Amino acid sequence: MSFAARSALRAASRRAPRAAVNVAKPQAASYSLLARSAVAASTPRAAVQSSTRGIKTLDFAGTKETVYERSDWPLAKLQDYFKNDTLALIGYGSQGHGQGLNARDNGVNVIVGVREGGESWKQAIEDGWVPGETLFPIEEAINRGTIIMNLLSDAAQSQTWPTVAPLITKGKTLYFSHGFSVVYKDDTHVIPPKDVDVILVAPKGSGRTVRTLFKEGRGINSSVAVWQDVTGKAKEKAVAIGVAIGSGYMYETTFEKEVYSDLYGERGVLMGAIQGLFLAQYKVLRANGHSPSEAFNETVEEATQSLYPLIGQYGMDYMYNACSTTARRGALDWAPIFEKTNLPVFEKLYESVKNGTETRKSLEFNGRDTYRQDLAKELKEIDDQEIWRAGKVVRSLRPDNLS
Ligand SMILES: NC(=O)c1ccc[n+]([C@@H]2O[C@H](COP(=O)([O-])OP(=O)(O)OC[C@H]3O[C@@H](n4cnc5c(N)ncnc54)[C@H](OP(=O)(O)O)[C@@H]3O)[C@@H](O)[C@H]2O)c1
Repeated sequence: MSFAARSALRAASRRAPRAAVNVAKPQAASYSLLARSAVAASTPRAAVQSSTRGIKTLDFAGTKETVYERSDWPLAKLQDYFKNDTLALIGYGSQGHGQGLNARDNGVNVIVGVREGGESWKQAIEDGWVPGETLFPIEEAINRGTIIMNLLSDAAQSQTWPTVAPLITKGKTLYFSHGFSVVYKDDTHVIPPKDVDVILVAPKGSGRTVRTLFKEGRGINSSVAVWQDVTGKAKEKAVAIGVAIGSGYMYETTFEKEVYSDLYGERGVLMGAIQGLFLAQYKVLRANGHSPSEAFNETVEEATQSLYPLIGQYGMDYMYNACSTTARRGALDWAPIFEKTNLPVFEKLYESVKNGTETRKSLEFNGRDTYRQDLAKELKEIDDQEIWRAGKVVRSLRPDNLS
């Protein structure tokens, strides 16, 4: 298909109503606060379209994979499914905040368990959790819960396990948002009791995004996995919780695959590699006499404001096609050089994840009493780099930032 034809198709799909995806069923408080108002506006046709989406096997570039969509879980069904459950959300960091508030707004019975008087305790109160009613010290929340959602930091999951483990009694379900603790059990010593279901829903984004997408009536994509299935219902329960916490769709994986890909990705292109590449490109521009604003614009601003959103919306070829023929020629020539140069680094990184080196570093560092201050110090060093100081000025010039 020609580029023009594909552009036309894409433009047409852009014009298609989103209601079919957002699955607003006109029957109860919806999947989001904002979507409640959209319920009234949704057409009967949109409702019919949405009901046709659900579990499906999709061909991802030649490999068949199962995905679960939330339209199989209308709110009434979701609320009925959990009517005898209490979701005890342990830990109230970024994921606790997003997942907990979404599940609460979806009408599921949720309580929060955190260290009394700590930062998270204060944050939970600010978000409307009530001490003694929906907010408890960790052990009490676990005792009250049927589904124990362990959303402590990965290091804290390991540190608190000797106290937590005896409370995970038969009939409860143990839930994680990362395969970290159970997969690296030799280092974390987190070994779940044999008589409980152990499941995972890992949102592919920060907890803040889990919350904002939900409020917009959209949904984060998550991976879903089962470690231990004693009831025969572990998968179904995991998918239902995934919907309750705000997932739009979930793809199936294993605990091992989830943790390997996640640790690898965040150290790679999602965070570590992107900072390293940005900085290297910026430094060469500066060394060759380019001003900070020019170096920043050609490295970060154009990437994040113009080109990367195009990749996100329509793919890499679309972004290339949106650029000049001069840019296309050069990028096509240099892409394989970057690939070849970086491949050994990525191979080394994957091995470091798989053999547990990354896990041990994380447990050691984030298990310190001073982990918050230590992380803040290193992030301040990044913030102080010239590239990011220049970035602040560039961002202030964006017309949408002018009052
Ligand atoms: N953030 C993400 O983007 C993301 C995405 C997907 C999955 N996950 C996974 O979700 C889980 C939670 O991550 P998160 O980012 O939301 O949380 P986090 O910031 O890593 O952890 C914060 C929570 O851990 C508690 N905590 C830390 N040390 C503790 C200790 N020694 N004893 C008791 N509580 C302690 C904190 O309580 P205090 O305030 O009392 O210290 C806070 O409630 C992790 O398994 C993570 O890998 C995270």
